[in-house]
Amino acid sequence: MGNSFGRLFRITTYGESHGTAIGVIIDGCPAGLAIDEDLIQDELTRRKPGQSRITTQRKEDDRFEIQSGVFEGRTTGTPISLVIYNKDQKSKDYSHIADKFRPSHADFTYHEKYGVRDYRGGGRSSARETAARVAAGAIAKQLLKESGMEITAYVSQVGDISAPDYKKMDLSLIEDNIVRCPDTNTAEKMIQLIDKVRKDRDTIGGVVTCIAAGVPAGLGEPVFDKLHAELGKAMLSINAVKGFEYGSGFEGTRMRGSAHNDEFFEEKGKVRTKTNFSGGIQGGISNGEDIYFNVAFKPVATIMQDQESVNEQGEPVTVSGKGRHDPCVVPRAVPIVEAMAALVIADHYLINKVSKSE
Ligand SMILES: Cc1cc2nc3c(=O)[nH]c(=O)nc-3n(C[C@H](O)[C@H](O)[C@H](O)COP(=O)(O)O)c2cc1C
Repeated sequence: MGNSFGRLFRITTYGESHGTAIGVIIDGCPAGLAIDEDLIQDELTRRKPGQSRITTQRKEDDRFEIQSGVFEGRTTGTPISLVIYNKDQKSKDYSHIADKFRPSHADFTYHEKYGVRDYRGGGRSSARETAARVAAGAIAKQLLKESGMEITAYVSQVGDISAPDYKKMDLSLIEDNIVRCPDTNTAEKMIQLIDKVRKDRDTIGGVVTCIAAGVPAGLGEPVFDKLHAELGKAMLSINAVKGFEYGSGFEGTRMRGSAHNDEFFEEKGKVRTKTNFSGGIQGGISNGEDIYFNVAFKPVATIMQDQESVNEQGEPVTVSGKGRHDPCVVPRAVPIVEAMAALVIADHYLINKVSKSE
Protein backbone atom coordinates (compact mmCIF):
# COMPACT_ATOMS: atom_id res chain seq x y z
CA MET A 1 0.00 0.00 0.00
CA GLY A 2 2.71 2.43 -0.98
CA ASN A 3 4.96 1.86 2.03
CA SER A 4 7.61 -0.18 0.19
CA PHE A 5 10.14 0.91 -2.41
CA GLY A 6 12.68 -0.88 -4.63
CA ARG A 7 12.78 -4.42 -6.01
CA LEU A 8 16.01 -6.18 -5.00
CA PHE A 9 17.21 -3.63 -2.45
CA ARG A 10 13.74 -3.18 -1.01
CA ILE A 11 12.67 -1.00 1.90
CA THR A 12 9.44 -0.80 3.87
CA THR A 13 9.06 2.14 6.24
CA TYR A 14 6.61 2.36 9.14
CA GLY A 15 5.60 4.77 11.87
CA GLU A 16 4.04 8.17 12.46
CA SER A 17 5.31 11.52 13.68
CA HIS A 18 3.93 11.22 17.23
CA GLY A 19 3.72 7.43 17.58
CA THR A 20 6.19 5.29 19.54
CA ALA A 21 8.76 5.00 16.80
CA ILE A 22 9.48 5.12 13.11
CA GLY A 23 11.57 2.55 11.33
CA VAL A 24 12.49 0.62 8.23
CA ILE A 25 12.89 -2.98 7.15
CA ILE A 26 15.48 -3.46 4.40
CA ASP A 27 15.13 -6.73 2.53
CA GLY A 28 17.62 -7.77 -0.17
CA CYS A 29 20.79 -6.10 1.08
CA PRO A 30 23.60 -8.49 0.06
CA ALA A 31 25.28 -10.44 2.88
CA GLY A 32 28.77 -9.59 4.02
CA LEU A 33 28.54 -5.80 3.66
CA ALA A 34 30.50 -4.10 6.45
CA ILE A 35 28.18 -1.65 8.24
CA ASP A 36 29.62 1.50 9.76
CA GLU A 37 26.98 2.61 12.28
CA ASP A 38 28.63 6.02 12.70
CA LEU A 39 27.92 6.76 9.03
CA ILE A 40 24.23 5.93 9.55
CA GLN A 41 24.15 8.25 12.58
CA ASP A 42 25.90 11.04 10.64
CA GLU A 43 23.21 10.93 7.96
CA LEU A 44 20.41 10.99 10.53
CA THR A 45 22.06 13.92 12.28
CA ARG A 46 22.14 15.85 8.98
CA ARG A 47 18.35 15.34 8.66
CA LYS A 48 17.27 15.70 12.28
CA PRO A 49 15.21 18.65 13.52
CA GLY A 50 16.67 21.26 15.82
CA GLN A 51 20.09 21.20 14.14
CA SER A 52 20.35 24.96 13.56
CA ARG A 53 18.46 28.23 13.98
CA ILE A 54 16.95 27.92 10.47
CA THR A 55 15.26 24.57 11.13
CA THR A 56 12.36 23.49 13.34
CA GLN A 57 13.18 23.47 17.06
CA ARG A 58 11.68 20.03 17.71
CA LYS A 59 14.48 18.26 19.61
CA GLU A 60 14.95 14.70 18.42
CA ASP A 61 18.39 13.14 18.77
CA ASP A 62 17.33 10.51 16.21
CA ARG A 63 19.42 7.71 17.69
CA PHE A 64 18.74 4.42 15.92
CA GLU A 65 18.88 0.78 16.90
CA ILE A 66 19.57 -2.08 14.49
CA GLN A 67 17.35 -4.96 15.60
CA SER A 68 18.22 -7.62 13.03
CA GLY A 69 20.16 -8.47 9.89
CA VAL A 70 23.60 -7.34 11.07
CA PHE A 71 25.96 -9.64 13.00
CA GLU A 72 29.45 -8.65 14.17
CA GLY A 73 29.35 -5.54 11.97
CA ARG A 74 28.32 -7.28 8.74
CA THR A 75 25.01 -7.81 6.99
CA THR A 76 23.79 -11.40 7.12
CA GLY A 77 21.50 -11.34 4.08
CA THR A 78 18.41 -11.45 6.32
CA PRO A 79 16.01 -8.50 6.74
CA ILE A 80 17.66 -5.52 8.41
CA SER A 81 15.31 -3.84 10.89
CA LEU A 82 16.22 -0.37 12.06
CA VAL A 83 14.15 1.62 14.56
CA ILE A 84 14.24 5.26 15.71
CA TYR A 85 12.17 6.01 18.81
CA ASN A 86 10.25 9.30 18.90
CA LYS A 87 11.17 11.37 21.96
CA ASP A 88 10.07 14.99 21.68
CA GLN A 89 6.43 14.66 20.62
CA LYS A 90 4.32 17.58 21.82
CA SER A 91 0.98 16.27 20.65
CA LYS A 92 -0.89 19.04 22.54
CA ASP A 93 0.48 21.48 19.92
CA TYR A 94 -1.84 19.79 17.43
CA SER A 95 -5.11 19.53 19.39
CA HIS A 96 -6.27 22.85 17.87
CA ILE A 97 -6.28 21.25 14.37
CA ALA A 98 -7.68 17.82 15.36
CA ASP A 99 -10.73 18.20 13.11
CA LYS A 100 -9.50 21.04 10.87
CA PHE A 101 -7.80 20.80 7.50
CA ARG A 102 -4.54 22.72 7.25
CA PRO A 103 -4.36 24.43 3.83
CA SER A 104 -1.94 22.61 1.48
CA HIS A 105 -1.13 19.88 4.01
CA ALA A 106 -2.32 16.25 3.79
CA ASP A 107 -5.14 16.47 6.40
CA PHE A 108 -8.05 16.69 3.93
CA THR A 109 -6.82 13.99 1.54
CA TYR A 110 -5.96 11.52 4.36
CA HIS A 111 -9.41 12.17 5.88
CA GLU A 112 -11.17 11.62 2.53
CA LYS A 113 -9.19 8.47 1.74
CA TYR A 114 -9.18 6.68 5.12
CA GLY A 115 -11.96 8.32 7.13
CA VAL A 116 -9.67 8.26 10.16
CA ARG A 117 -6.29 9.90 10.73
CA ASP A 118 -3.62 10.51 13.33
CA TYR A 119 -3.63 14.32 13.26
CA ARG A 120 -0.72 14.63 15.71
CA GLY A 121 2.19 16.18 13.83
CA GLY A 122 0.64 15.12 10.52
CA GLY A 123 0.84 11.41 11.44
CA ARG A 124 2.14 9.33 8.55
CA SER A 125 2.21 12.36 6.21
CA SER A 126 4.86 13.99 8.40
CA ALA A 127 8.37 14.27 7.00
CA ARG A 128 9.49 12.47 10.15
CA GLU A 129 8.97 9.30 8.06
CA THR A 130 11.95 10.36 5.94
CA ALA A 131 14.32 9.59 8.84
CA ALA A 132 13.66 5.90 8.10
CA ARG A 133 14.54 6.47 4.44
CA VAL A 134 17.74 8.28 5.42
CA ALA A 135 18.80 5.35 7.64
CA ALA A 136 18.16 2.86 4.81
CA GLY A 137 19.88 5.16 2.33
CA ALA A 138 22.96 5.27 4.56
CA ILE A 139 23.26 1.49 4.19
CA ALA A 140 22.69 1.73 0.40
CA LYS A 141 25.43 4.37 0.28
CA GLN A 142 27.84 1.95 1.97
CA LEU A 143 27.02 -0.70 -0.65
CA LEU A 144 27.61 1.79 -3.47
CA LYS A 145 30.84 3.10 -1.96
CA GLU A 146 32.34 -0.41 -2.16
CA SER A 147 32.00 -0.11 -5.94
CA GLY A 148 33.27 3.46 -6.19
CA MET A 149 29.92 5.28 -6.39
CA GLU A 150 29.26 8.45 -4.41
CA ILE A 151 26.15 10.58 -4.06
CA THR A 152 26.33 14.25 -3.09
CA ALA A 153 23.52 16.78 -2.77
CA TYR A 154 23.41 20.44 -1.79
CA VAL A 155 21.01 23.38 -1.67
CA SER A 156 21.20 25.14 -5.04
CA GLN A 157 18.31 27.58 -4.58
CA VAL A 158 16.27 29.23 -1.82
CA GLY A 159 13.45 31.47 -3.07
CA ASP A 160 15.05 33.36 -5.96
CA ILE A 161 18.64 33.07 -4.69
CA SER A 162 20.59 30.54 -6.79
CA ALA A 163 24.06 28.98 -6.50
CA PRO A 164 26.44 28.62 -9.47
CA ASP A 165 26.68 25.38 -11.51
CA TYR A 166 27.98 22.41 -9.49
CA LYS A 167 31.14 22.15 -11.59
CA LYS A 168 32.11 25.70 -10.54
CA MET A 169 31.91 25.00 -6.80
CA ASP A 170 33.94 23.04 -4.26
CA LEU A 171 31.45 20.43 -3.08
CA SER A 172 33.60 19.60 -0.06
CA LEU A 173 32.24 22.84 1.48
CA ILE A 174 28.60 21.73 1.58
CA GLU A 175 28.58 20.96 5.30
CA ASP A 176 30.48 24.16 6.20
CA ASN A 177 27.31 26.23 6.62
CA ILE A 178 23.83 25.63 8.02
CA VAL A 179 22.03 25.98 4.69
CA ARG A 180 24.23 23.35 2.94
CA CYS A 181 25.17 25.46 -0.09
CA PRO A 182 28.85 25.07 -1.07
CA ASP A 183 29.17 28.67 -2.33
CA THR A 184 29.82 30.71 0.81
CA ASN A 185 28.47 34.04 -0.52
CA THR A 186 25.28 32.47 -1.85
CA ALA A 187 24.87 30.53 1.40
CA GLU A 188 25.02 33.76 3.43
CA LYS A 189 22.29 35.34 1.28
CA MET A 190 20.14 32.22 1.59
CA ILE A 191 20.47 32.20 5.38
CA GLN A 192 19.51 35.89 5.58
CA LEU A 193 16.44 35.20 3.44
CA ILE A 194 15.36 32.24 5.60
CA ASP A 195 15.86 34.34 8.75
CA LYS A 196 13.66 37.06 7.28
CA VAL A 197 10.97 34.61 6.20
CA ARG A 198 10.94 33.08 9.70
CA LYS A 199 10.55 36.53 11.27
CA ASP A 200 7.68 37.18 8.84
CA ARG A 201 6.10 33.98 10.26
CA ASP A 202 6.13 32.48 6.76
CA THR A 203 7.84 29.71 4.77
CA ILE A 204 9.86 29.58 1.53
CA GLY A 205 10.79 26.87 -0.99
CA GLY A 206 13.97 25.94 -2.81
CA VAL A 207 15.89 23.43 -4.88
CA VAL A 208 18.23 20.57 -3.96
CA THR A 209 20.73 19.49 -6.63
CA CYS A 210 22.15 15.98 -6.48
CA ILE A 211 25.10 14.35 -8.26
CA ALA A 212 25.79 10.62 -8.44
CA ALA A 213 29.42 10.08 -9.45
CA GLY A 214 31.19 6.86 -10.38
CA VAL A 215 27.99 5.12 -11.51
CA PRO A 216 28.99 2.59 -14.20
CA ALA A 217 27.27 2.46 -17.61
CA GLY A 218 24.35 0.04 -17.82
CA LEU A 219 22.05 0.83 -14.87
CA GLY A 220 18.33 1.31 -15.64
CA GLU A 221 15.65 -1.00 -17.09
CA PRO A 222 13.86 0.24 -20.20
CA VAL A 223 11.17 0.81 -20.95
CA PHE A 224 9.07 1.61 -17.87
CA ASP A 225 11.85 1.44 -15.30
CA LYS A 226 14.27 3.85 -16.94
CA LEU A 227 16.82 5.11 -14.45
CA HIS A 228 15.59 8.70 -14.61
CA ALA A 229 11.98 7.52 -14.22
CA GLU A 230 12.96 5.62 -11.08
CA LEU A 231 14.86 8.62 -9.73
CA GLY A 232 11.90 10.85 -10.56
CA LYS A 233 9.48 8.64 -8.64
CA ALA A 234 11.88 8.45 -5.69
CA MET A 235 12.27 12.22 -5.52
CA LEU A 236 8.59 12.99 -6.07
CA SER A 237 7.77 10.66 -3.16
CA ILE A 238 9.58 13.02 -0.76
CA ASN A 239 7.29 15.33 1.23
CA ALA A 240 6.79 18.80 -0.25
CA VAL A 241 8.49 18.00 -3.58
CA LYS A 242 6.91 19.74 -6.56
CA GLY A 243 9.34 19.11 -9.39
CA PHE A 244 12.13 16.92 -10.76
CA GLU A 245 14.42 17.51 -13.72
CA TYR A 246 17.63 15.75 -14.77
CA GLY A 247 20.42 16.75 -17.13
CA SER A 248 19.53 19.85 -19.13
CA GLY A 249 15.94 19.54 -17.86
CA PHE A 250 13.52 22.31 -18.77
CA GLU A 251 16.39 24.63 -19.82
CA GLY A 252 17.26 22.15 -22.60
CA THR A 253 14.03 23.06 -24.39
CA ARG A 254 15.60 26.42 -25.29
CA MET A 255 18.58 24.80 -27.06
CA ARG A 256 19.20 23.34 -30.52
CA GLY A 257 20.29 19.73 -31.05
CA SER A 258 23.64 20.93 -32.45
CA ALA A 259 24.43 22.53 -29.08
CA HIS A 260 22.68 19.93 -26.93
CA ASN A 261 24.15 16.70 -28.34
CA ASP A 262 26.82 15.14 -26.11
CA GLU A 263 29.63 14.15 -28.51
CA PHE A 264 31.50 10.96 -27.69
CA PHE A 265 35.26 10.55 -27.36
CA GLU A 266 37.54 7.84 -26.06
CA GLU A 267 39.64 8.27 -22.92
CA LYS A 268 41.88 5.56 -21.48
CA GLY A 269 39.83 2.82 -23.14
CA LYS A 270 36.54 4.29 -21.90
CA VAL A 271 33.82 5.94 -24.00
CA ARG A 272 33.06 9.38 -22.57
CA THR A 273 31.02 12.42 -23.61
CA LYS A 274 32.47 15.92 -24.08
CA THR A 275 29.40 17.58 -22.56
CA ASN A 276 26.74 16.07 -20.29
CA PHE A 277 23.37 17.58 -21.12
CA SER A 278 22.03 14.00 -20.95
CA GLY A 279 22.65 14.07 -17.19
CA GLY A 280 24.48 10.73 -17.33
CA ILE A 281 21.44 8.81 -18.61
CA GLN A 282 20.57 7.94 -22.24
CA GLY A 283 17.63 5.76 -23.20
CA GLY A 284 16.95 5.26 -19.52
CA ILE A 285 20.38 3.66 -18.95
CA SER A 286 23.37 5.23 -17.18
CA ASN A 287 26.24 6.07 -19.56
CA GLY A 288 29.05 6.38 -17.00
CA GLU A 289 29.04 10.19 -16.76
CA ASP A 290 27.85 12.07 -13.66
CA ILE A 291 24.13 11.66 -13.06
CA TYR A 292 22.78 15.01 -11.93
CA PHE A 293 19.29 16.27 -11.21
CA ASN A 294 17.31 19.00 -9.44
CA VAL A 295 14.48 18.53 -6.94
CA ALA A 296 12.07 21.42 -6.28
CA PHE A 297 10.53 21.86 -2.80
CA LYS A 298 7.53 24.07 -2.15
CA PRO A 299 7.24 26.58 0.72
CA VAL A 300 5.77 24.19 3.30
CA ALA A 301 2.22 24.55 4.53
CA THR A 302 2.58 25.48 8.20
CA ILE A 303 2.92 29.23 8.49
CA MET A 304 2.65 31.09 11.80
CA GLN A 305 -0.36 33.05 10.58
CA ASP A 306 -4.13 32.68 10.61
CA GLN A 307 -5.58 31.04 7.50
CA GLU A 308 -9.12 30.28 6.42
CA SER A 309 -10.18 26.67 6.09
CA VAL A 310 -12.97 24.22 6.93
CA ASN A 311 -13.31 21.43 9.49
CA GLU A 312 -14.43 17.80 9.02
CA GLN A 313 -18.06 18.99 9.11
CA GLY A 314 -17.35 21.45 6.29
CA GLU A 315 -17.81 24.48 8.59
CA PRO A 316 -15.59 27.54 8.11
CA VAL A 317 -12.74 27.71 10.64
CA THR A 318 -9.51 29.60 11.20
CA VAL A 319 -6.29 27.58 11.25
CA SER A 320 -3.56 29.23 13.32
CA GLY A 321 0.06 28.12 12.96
CA LYS A 322 1.38 26.65 16.21
CA GLY A 323 4.11 24.23 17.22
CA ARG A 324 7.61 23.91 15.81
CA HIS A 325 8.07 23.98 12.06
CA ASP A 326 10.68 24.57 9.39
CA PRO A 327 10.62 27.98 7.65
CA CYS A 328 12.51 26.34 4.77
CA VAL A 329 12.95 22.58 4.54
CA VAL A 330 15.62 22.36 1.84
CA PRO A 331 18.70 22.26 4.13
CA ARG A 332 17.22 19.21 5.90
CA ALA A 333 16.08 17.70 2.60
CA VAL A 334 19.67 17.33 1.34
CA PRO A 335 20.32 13.96 3.09
CA ILE A 336 16.82 12.77 2.14
CA VAL A 337 17.49 13.37 -1.56
CA GLU A 338 20.86 11.61 -1.26
CA ALA A 339 19.23 8.65 0.51
CA MET A 340 16.51 8.20 -2.11
CA ALA A 341 19.11 8.45 -4.91
CA ALA A 342 21.28 5.83 -3.15
CA LEU A 343 18.29 3.49 -2.79
CA VAL A 344 17.44 3.73 -6.52
CA ILE A 345 21.02 3.29 -7.68
CA ALA A 346 21.73 0.40 -5.26
CA ASP A 347 18.58 -1.35 -6.47
CA HIS A 348 19.53 -0.94 -10.13
CA TYR A 349 23.13 -1.89 -9.45
CA LEU A 350 21.89 -5.24 -8.13
CA ILE A 351 19.29 -5.67 -10.90
CA ASN A 352 21.93 -4.97 -13.57
CA LYS A 353 24.02 -7.92 -12.41
CA VAL A 354 21.65 -10.25 -14.31
CA SER A 355 21.28 -8.23 -17.52
CA LYS A 356 23.77 -10.10 -19.73
CA SER A 357 25.70 -13.39 -19.84
CA GLU A 358 29.40 -13.05 -19.17
C1 LIG B 1 12.53 17.86 5.92
C2 LIG B 1 11.08 18.26 5.79
C3 LIG B 1 10.46 18.91 6.84
C4 LIG B 1 9.13 19.32 6.75
N1 LIG B 1 8.57 20.03 7.79
C5 LIG B 1 7.34 20.55 7.62
C6 LIG B 1 6.80 21.42 8.61
O1 LIG B 1 7.44 21.75 9.62
N2 LIG B 1 5.54 21.90 8.43
C7 LIG B 1 4.80 21.59 7.31
O2 LIG B 1 3.68 22.04 7.17
N3 LIG B 1 5.29 20.76 6.36
C8 LIG B 1 6.53 20.24 6.49
N4 LIG B 1 7.04 19.43 5.50
C9 LIG B 1 6.21 19.10 4.34
C10 LIG B 1 5.03 18.17 4.63
O3 LIG B 1 5.47 16.93 5.15
C11 LIG B 1 4.23 17.97 3.34
O4 LIG B 1 4.00 19.18 2.73
C12 LIG B 1 2.90 17.29 3.62
O5 LIG B 1 3.12 15.93 3.94
C13 LIG B 1 1.95 17.34 2.42
O6 LIG B 1 2.52 16.70 1.32
P1 LIG B 1 2.85 17.44 -0.07
O7 LIG B 1 3.36 18.81 0.24
O8 LIG B 1 3.92 16.58 -0.70
O9 LIG B 1 1.58 17.48 -0.87
C14 LIG B 1 8.38 19.02 5.58
C15 LIG B 1 9.00 18.35 4.50
C16 LIG B 1 10.34 17.99 4.60
C17 LIG B 1 11.01 17.32 3.42
